[in-house]
Amino acid sequence: MDMSSSSSSFTCWIMPGLLVLAMASFAPQAEARAFFVFGDSLVDNGNNNYLATTARADAPPYGIDYPTHRATGRFSNGLNIPDLISEAIGSEPTLPYLSPALTGERLLVGANFASAGIGILNDTGIQFLNIIRIYKQLEYFQQYQQRVSALIGAEQTERLVNEGLVLMTLGGNDFVNNYYLVPYSARSRQFTLPDYVVYLISEYRKILIRVYELGARRVLVTGTGPLGCVPAEIAMRGRNGECSEELQRAAGLFNPQLVQLINELNAEIGSDIFVAANAYEMNMDFVNNPQTYGFVTSKVACCGQGPYNGIGLCTVVSNLCPNRDIYAFWDPFHPSERANRIIVQQIVTGSTKYMHPMNLSTIMLLDSRT
Ligand SMILES: *[C@@H]1O[C@H](CO)[C@@H](O)[C@H](O)[C@H]1NC(C)=O
Ligand SMILES: *[C@@H]1O[C@H](CO)[C@@H](O)[C@H](O)[C@H]1NC(C)=O
Repeated sequence: MDMSSSSSSFTCWIMPGLLVLAMASFAPQAEARAFFVFGDSLVDNGNNNYLATTARADAPPYGIDYPTHRATGRFSNGLNIPDLISEAIGSEPTLPYLSPALTGERLLVGANFASAGIGILNDTGIQFLNIIRIYKQLEYFQQYQQRVSALIGAEQTERLVNEGLVLMTLGGNDFVNNYYLVPYSARSRQFTLPDYVVYLISEYRKILIRVYELGARRVLVTGTGPLGCVPAEIAMRGRNGECSEELQRAAGLFNPQLVQLINELNAEIGSDIFVAANAYEMNMDFVNNPQTYGFVTSKVACCGQGPYNGIGLCTVVSNLCPNRDIYAFWDPFHPSERANRIIVQQIVTGSTKYMHPMNLSTIMLLDSRT
């Protein structure tokens, strides 16, 4: 299905730094385009709150800067990346798919299927017990479409999905919570790092093809951030406050092969369906030059304990910085809301250094033409 030829129930113009949505809604559809989120803790809006898992962010001080000042399950002091993308496309934030509040008209906004702890591989994150692995997330996406069909019919549902925006954030845990979880892990005995990356990419290919088969036609795929430069890895593996070389090597192998995969898929199944977001470069900007971005540090987490506040979990007994806006990292693994804003700004308007083949404002412009 060609996005640009399908009629749209809304029109939008992008202006520099400003998004104007003009409504001309004839169909019983959501007002802005639907948004579907798949992946791990970087994008989980709270699904794990409903599961018996240890991978959760449903207690203070998580959410301290969220509008409600309550922990929601987001791994952030405030908003996370999907929230800020929703903001940019003029949508309500997506609800977790497992939330009982996700019913009726709210389904038309889209849904967030992400689950902290998961990876590309089924065996990633097994230590977290009950998490929603990627194939289960995709099964829920199918179930979601059946539920929406009951509401607005099959044809409108297909259109909602075809015209929707998808975010897919996977891969970090396949290193941190699998290959490098323990010395001599099963995967590290099975594969050298370069061979493991090739295997991950071959499994990621199947996942991206599946999401296309389920109707997605605009899929933002984020690569991994600088895995070795998060406070947890600086504390556990870095020498003298340096990034962990081994995890940086992993990210350095994985990210270019992911871009290559996206190029191949776009050539095979339709141009510009998959869009790569270079999360590595987006993060490295403020990791290398925190002061330029208004951060006092990118090495020390706001919430945590031990060296760089990088050890263990962020809990109510952890150290907590008074001003979250001047820390690039909120907890030992996850960016602060303000860092997330810098990342999403690049997703929306970044150059080809950050977004390949195009940024989100260009996608919005293309898709608004009827
Ligand atoms: C992962 O699990 C899904 C469904 O549970 C299965 O279809 C898929 O083949 C599995 N992947 C691997 C590599 O075993
Ligand atoms: C990204 O967005 C900006 C501003 O909206 C635009 O000027 C620029 O050309 C875009 N770049 C790409 C590569 O799409």
